[in-house]
Amino acid sequence: MQILGIETSCDETAAAVVVDGKQVLSHALASSVAIQEKYGGVVPEQAAREQLKAIIPVIHETLTQSSLQPSQLDAIAVTVGPGLIGSLLVGVETAKTLSWVWGKPLIPVNHLLAHFYAAWIGDRALQFPLVGLLVSGGHTDLILMQSHKHIQHLGGTRDDAAGETFDKTARLIGLPYPGGAAVAALAEKYNTKNEKRNITLPRPLMAENTLEFSFSGLKTAALRETQRLKEQGLWHDEAIVQFAYEIQEAITDVLVQKTLKAVVTYRPKSLVLAGGVAANARLREKVLSAIDTLEFPIAVHMPPPELCTDNAVMVAACAYYHQNPVPFQQVQANPSLSLRDFSLPTITHKSTSN
Ligand code: KG4
Ligand code: ZN
Repeated sequence: MQILGIETSCDETAAAVVVDGKQVLSHALASSVAIQEKYGGVVPEQAAREQLKAIIPVIHETLTQSSLQPSQLDAIAVTVGPGLIGSLLVGVETAKTLSWVWGKPLIPVNHLLAHFYAAWIGDRALQFPLVGLLVSGGHTDLILMQSHKHIQHLGGTRDDAAGETFDKTARLIGLPYPGGAAVAALAEKYNTKNEKRNITLPRPLMAENTLEFSFSGLKTAALRETQRLKEQGLWHDEAIVQFAYEIQEAITDVLVQKTLKAVVTYRPKSLVLAGGVAANARLREKVLSAIDTLEFPIAVHMPPPELCTDNAVMVAACAYYHQNPVPFQQVQANPSLSLRDFSLPTITHKSTSN
């Protein structure tokens, strides 16, 4: 089954053709990140304008690369949410038009669920039950999948997301948006044998008996710490590197401990890391060593970094396993879609905190 996936939820315009949810025939991506860098974040109106400019060339490039005619496609899949309304509308309305013109079924996709499907690319056989950690710019969630159709939300963030915490910290350091990868690169320079460790940040909710997250206190603590260092004349290169290291440690410690807790509680056969922050090398390394300490076998799946960040491959792959075509007239963008109250029929809504 050959599905054209379309992704326009934020500042990336992406399209891909994926066969049977695992083989990538082609994919193309245009990003307005250079513009966001200039403004220190995503300007919704600007992002939507860039989506409009890029959507047709990106879809055209994807189809050309795949050497397929539209008539050879089996379906079109599109991200309907969550995301920025202006950006989402560009993808959704384009997909609706193509669905009508080409006479192809249209499959609406939840962007957050789609992130997990990057792990199925490349003919990997993932076994259920599966615990998934989604860590993106705006979301931090743990889910349990008993099958593609039975998905339970285990916990999420009460306030800010892990990615946002990376991005806000980057801003404090003066790094361009989005700053996760740049903070990680700086943190790598830190010599862990350095005895002069004088920056410590909190690990919110880490020791508490819940699968919920909270990062807003960490963001505030990071801001206070930079203010303290500046006031004391200590905000120099060495301190900045140590600061980047400590924020990365704080975020990844919390993510690893919560994931481990979910894994020990539900004893799944697989663990999937997904979303932009899952590209973080330190997180990947720490998750692998934590899983290594367990007595029961569990396969850890971490998509390659380029499939962790936003792309359309994951959208087309997700649609293959969640084939719920909807008449194009009924497909609508929904900026506030989440994994807690997923509106497609394939998810079972159940929230637990233990
Ligand atoms: O999934 P994604 O591409 O977009 C959303 O759906 O939000 O995630 C973007 C987030 C940003 O916050 C970005 O800073 C973060 O992922 N990110 C990273 C890394 N690469 C991207 N955070 C930490 N380390 C990285 N290597
Ligand atoms: Zn995303």
